[in-house]
Order: sequence, then C-alpha cells, then structure tokens
Amino acid sequence: MYLINTILCLVLFASAKHVLHEERQPQVYDSLWRQAERVHPDAIVPLRIGLKQYNLEHGAERLLAISDHKSKDYGKHLTFDEVNELFAPPADTVNAVRAWLLEHGVDERLIAHSDNKGWLAADIPAKDAEALLLTDLFEYEDSKTGRIRIGCERYHLPAHVREHIDYITPGVKMSPVLKKRNLERKLPSLGRRKNPNWHGDQWHGNQHGSPPWNHHWPLPPAAHGLPPEVRNCGVNITPACYRALYRLPVGHINDSVNSPALFEQGDYFAQSDVSQFLKMWAPNVPPSTAPIVLGIDGGEAPVPASDPNNGGESDIDVDIVISLVYPQSVLVYQVDDENYAVAELSKANTFNTFLDALDGSYCNYTAYGITGNSPEYDPTYPDPADGGYKGKLQCGIYKPARVISISYGESELDFPKNYVQRQCNEFMKLGLQGTTVLIASGDYGVAGYPGDITPSGCLSGSGQNQTIYNTDYLSNCPWVTSVGGSRLYPGQTILDRESAMELELDSGRAFFRNSGGFSNYYTTPSWQKSTKAKYFAEHDPGHPYYIANADASNIGENGGIYNRAGRGYPDVSANGAYLPTPINGTVYRFSGASLAAPLWASVITLLNQQRTIAGKGPIGFINPILYSHPWVLNDIVNGTNAGCGSSGFKAVPGWDPVTGLGTPNYPKMLELFLSLP
Ligand SMILES: *[C@@H]1O[C@H](CO)[C@@H](O)[C@H](O)[C@H]1NC(C)=O
Ligand SMILES: *[C@@H]1O[C@H](CO)[C@@H](O)[C@H](O)[C@H]1NC(C)=O
Ligand SMILES: *[C@@H]1O[C@H](CO)[C@@H](O)[C@H](O)[C@H]1NC(C)=O
Ligand SMILES: *[C@@H]1O[C@H](CO)[C@@H](O)[C@H](O)[C@H]1NC(C)=O
Ligand SMILES: *[C@@H]1O[C@H](CO)[C@@H](O)[C@H](O)[C@H]1NC(C)=O
Repeated sequence: MYLINTILCLVLFASAKHVLHEERQPQVYDSLWRQAERVHPDAIVPLRIGLKQYNLEHGAERLLAISDHKSKDYGKHLTFDEVNELFAPPADTVNAVRAWLLEHGVDERLIAHSDNKGWLAADIPAKDAEALLLTDLFEYEDSKTGRIRIGCERYHLPAHVREHIDYITPGVKMSPVLKKRNLERKLPSLGRRKNPNWHGDQWHGNQHGSPPWNHHWPLPPAAHGLPPEVRNCGVNITPACYRALYRLPVGHINDSVNSPALFEQGDYFAQSDVSQFLKMWAPNVPPSTAPIVLGIDGGEAPVPASDPNNGGESDIDVDIVISLVYPQSVLVYQVDDENYAVAELSKANTFNTFLDALDGSYCNYTAYGITGNSPEYDPTYPDPADGGYKGKLQCGIYKPARVISISYGESELDFPKNYVQRQCNEFMKLGLQGTTVLIASGDYGVAGYPGDITPSGCLSGSGQNQTIYNTDYLSNCPWVTSVGGSRLYPGQTILDRESAMELELDSGRAFFRNSGGFSNYYTTPSWQKSTKAKYFAEHDPGHPYYIANADASNIGENGGIYNRAGRGYPDVSANGAYLPTPINGTVYRFSGASLAAPLWASVITLLNQQRTIAGKGPIGFINPILYSHPWVLNDIVNGTNAGCGSSGFKAVPGWDPVTGLGTPNYPKMLELFLSLP
C-alpha cells in the first residue's frame, strides 16, 4: 500500500511539470519489437534532440506559391543558402533546451550542436536520461533482424521545453546503446538478404513457367495497322511503346542542367545488362551509353552482371531513363556502402544518408564526431565492417538534380510521425530549390509489403486484425509526387485506354496491384482538397473509415479501414507492366510501380529541356499544377487495388487512390508548361 502510494505521488508530482511528448502505439509496433530487459542505469546512451525547425509553415506556403501558376512567385525557386537561412531555429530555442540540460546536471562539455542548430546531442548515462525524460528505458529486440535497440513506451518533457523540440531519441524511436558497461553489445546483423521493402519488380516469365517475353504472342487484331515496334505493347512494353502511349518525342537534347537522377540503394546496375537492353529496345542509343554514378558514402556502381546485388531495380531504372532521354546524361545516386545499403533496405531505408549528401544542414555536427542522423537507423561512417566505406559521412556534396526518381519505400508507420515529418520537410526543401521528386507508390494494393508490420502487410488496431490499409512512405509526404502503375491487357494496343496495374505473379500465387490510399500522418494538402472532395462526393468507395487524430493513435477506430482525412496517393501513374529486361544476361518481364517513377522522371526531364530552351526555370514540385490541370493527363477509369481482405478502391473518372490523375499526355503537358512563366 505504502509503495503504491509513493509511486502515485511521484507520477502526479512529475506530471504537474512535465507533459507527455511522444507515445508508442502498441498495436502498430508490437509485431516489430519485443521488449526485453531494462537498460542498465550506467549504460551510456546517445541522447539526440531534434529541435523544432522554424518557418516550416512559411516554407510550405513559399513552396505552394512557387508551384502555383496563379501566384506572382511561380517558378521563383530558392538557392541552397536561402533554404538554410529560412529554416534555422532562433537562438532562444537552442538556449532554452541547453538550459534544461544544464539544469539537470548534464556536463556542458558533453553537449554538442549542429552547425545549423537543428540538433543537440549528449551521450549520458541511462539513469540521467530517464530522469530528464521521466521515462523507463528498455532494450527492444527487432523481431526481424534480432538487433537490440533501446527506447521507451513514452516520454515526457517540461512544457516550456516541449515547444522547442520535434522529438528525442532514444525514445519512441529506438537507439542503440553506445557503451554498455556490464553487458556485451550485440552487433547488428548485416545479412546480405534482399530488402523486404523494395518495390520489387518481381521475376515474371520463364522463371515461373509462364511464357517468356519472346514467346509467340498472338497479335491483337487492331495491331495490324500499327508500326511493327508497337504492335504488342500489352504483353511486352518497350521504350517505343512508352513513346507511342504518351506521345513522347525521341530525346535529342543534352544540356548541362537537366540530367535526371535515380536514387539507388542496396541494388546495383550492370553495364552489360544495360547495353543489352539498349541493343534490344533503343536503336537510337549507342549500347555503350552509361549513366554517371554519384557515389554517396561508399556507393559504387556498376557491378558485374552476376553480382547478387544486381537485383533488377537499378538495371530497369537506368534502362528506362537512358532510352527515353538520351543524349541527355543520366545520374545515379548510389547510396551507402554495400554493408549498410543492404541492412538499411532490410529494415530502415530512411533516405537520411541521401538527404545528407544533398543538404549538409541535415547532417552536420561540429563536435564529437556526432552526426545529426540517428545511428540506430542511419549508417555511421567510417564503417568499421569489412568492405565498409572508410571515408567520412558526405554532407552537402551534391547539388540536387532537377528530377529525382525513387523506387524504394516502406510503411509510413515503420517510423514515428515526428521522424517522418522531419524527413518529409527535407523533401519540401528540395521542392523549394526546384527539384521534382517522383516516388513509386508500391505494388501491394491497399496493403503494404507482406511482412511490413504484419505478415499480410495490413494494419491491426482498435480490435481489428490485419484489415486496415497500410500507407506507403514516401508517398504519404505531401511534397513529393507519388507515381502508380498502369497497364494494357493482352489483346489491347496503344490505341486503347490503359487500366490500373493489376497482374498475376507466380502463376496466380501472388498479385501485383497498384498501391494507393490515404496517409495516417498527413492530412489533405491544399492542392488536393477540392479534387479529393469531388472524389468522395461522386465515387464514395463505401468502406468504413476513421479520421486519424493528431498522433494517429486511433487507427482502425469504429471498424474503419482507412483514414478519410489523409493525403491521398498516388498523384499520377504510368505503365508498369511487362518490360522485357536483361538481368545477369537473361531477359525477364518486369512489372511494378518501380517502372512508372523513372518513366515520369524521363517525361519531366523532356519538359524541363524545353523550358530551358525557352529561357525558363525547372518545373519543380508539380502537384499543384497537375491537380488544377488534370486534362493534361490521360485519366484511367478501370481496375482496382484490392487488398487487406477488401475490394480496395476503384479507378474512376477523375482522381482516384488507385491511379491518381492518370498518365502523361506529353503534347498537352508541353503546351501547359511552356505557357507558364
Ligand atoms: C549469373 O549468370 C551466371 C551465368 O549464367 C550464373 O552462373 C550466375 O549464378 C548468375 N548469377 C546470379 C546472381 O544469378
Ligand atoms: C552530354 O553532355 C555531357 C557534358 O554535359 C557530356 O559529358 C556527355 O558526353 C554528353 N553526352 C552525349 C551523348 O553527347
Ligand atoms: C560540416 O562541418 C565541417 C566541419 O566543421 C565543415 O567543414 C563543412 O563545411 C560542414 N558542411 C556543411 C554542409 O555545413
Ligand atoms: C489474425 O489473423 C491472422 C491471419 O488471419 C491469424 O493467423 C491470427 O491468429 C489472428 N490473430 C488474432 C489475435 O486473432
Ligand atoms: C478492366 O480491368 C479488368 C481487371 O480489373 C480487366 O479484366 C479488363 O480487361 C479491363 N477492361 C478493359 C477494357 O481494359
């Protein structure tokens, strides 16, 4: 009795001064992490305090103005320095948080801060961190990799400090123990396994007994009047088919500012595969044409075709973009050394190393060799492992390309909201500088990748068991353009209207369906509001829904299976079905939204080249313009993205969370973008 009373008093006393700042959502994280023992009080933990960045709303407004053709600021992108200037937190933020640490006896010499003042860091004993945050720190075991991390169920901050802080680690987001005094540290397992979160363009074709690309496919009757190279685009899509479908010109420009970039991580292209592809499908391109590789923290490419990390993603991305934009040079951001790349992909593909390289303000610490990254999720360089990158973390070394295509992703709920928001803001900063970021939406319908959070890839919560839709990260971020897949059916030609990408894999044992839905973390962005309202007014899918609260802790409430109030995705789509591609010398037919993002990157590049010739700047963040001019796209009205035991959503006239606004109509897009300042 006595004991219970004391604890109660302590809690009451504490809560008078402290406020709950972040809390883990058991239903979401339970399947990922197993709570183990309490962290030893003397273990040193890396405390990292993400300070609130300033002017984020102003930054958002600014980006919207820059991206809105009706604004006088349309197209007036900022420089890198202007962006940094805009977001630097004022001195009193840093001072308030520093004073709080000092008050609690943290040694001043241990407190480090970043150049841009975005982060404070101190390595302190666990017992001190617990007292500071009114929390209990535990070890957690990652159920997939066996890695041990530390974190807590919830933590508190004094009200006057809380307003200055985005989030703290170790916290709801886990950290490794830096030094454990009485226990041996378990090293992370850096297995060379395939990334479960990769938007895989699965093998399809001869591997699984269905006909290969060069099978004698019957020609659709309507194909006989078409040029030979575009007669069977429903069974083998090729660059010639892309051009015919979207009325793209053959590339003929190579300027110094419009090279598009591909983000690659844990997967590496092989030049012999690329050359073989170009010989097969791109007669206008010399087969020796290679992309320019920009290595980030040990990322090197190409690899020999037989390398086990030549998994197809990079080959395909490079194949598509070179075929469509040659002679324009193509860039590859090859991120992380091979040890980290694979580990990152298997669990924590968070883009931070990549963002560091483009925006040094995200990573730079001035003391103790600490970076603004989070060591538990983000690679630490130099990497001591065999074959690891021995150089320093690369910060701010590359000017961001005007177009960046990313075909990687995972569930938005793999990370706490504050973490996701902070990273999404980095993509906003790229938009401010005039970069278009295209992200593949995923291939599992309204579900996530099988195994991402639950075996089915669907969410559990509020009494529901794997019936709730799972949203993709980075597609949830309102500052990127999410690209879904579309397809033609056998028997159709380029003269037919495409459908949503739905296809059978493995002779019907699995399916790809284009990912789409609504974010649990982000509400509807301004540019999507009227379009989304129209969608629900005219085509309400009829499924039960919920309205996610600010911390997304009520997912699945009232039997709802999606957050009606969330940012909807994808924004657009493009063909993602049956591209015959050599991988390690053998031609397979690949499918997935992964094909659609580089295809869109090529389209935006061709448009940017024309704007450059007309003396205009890059298109940049494109969503506001597209949502207000949907007629420059080919609307898709057939197909669904079923999943999680439900029929998912349907492609309908206008925007829908299956195919977005539709596929590119190049001549109409060109006319529109040349008409803008
Ligand atoms: C690549 O092809 C070679 C020759 O066919 C084969 O020996 C090798 O196992 C293949 N590598 C992979 C990773 O599939
Ligand atoms: C394109 O221009 C770059 C220089 O900006 C040059 O290195 C490259 O060789 C050119 N590509 C072709 C195909 O001419
Ligand atoms: C990062 O810090 C290093 C060392 O203080 C400095 O030389 C470099 O310019 C900084 N980089 C950026 C992008 O701020
Ligand atoms: C949840 O559903 C899965 C798959 O249908 C099933 O295996 C599991 O037992 C269910 N769990 C609960 C708690 O009902
Ligand atoms: C519409 O999509 C369904 C699959 O959802 C497909 O079977 C059908 O052929 C498509 N119809 C047209 C006209 O593309």
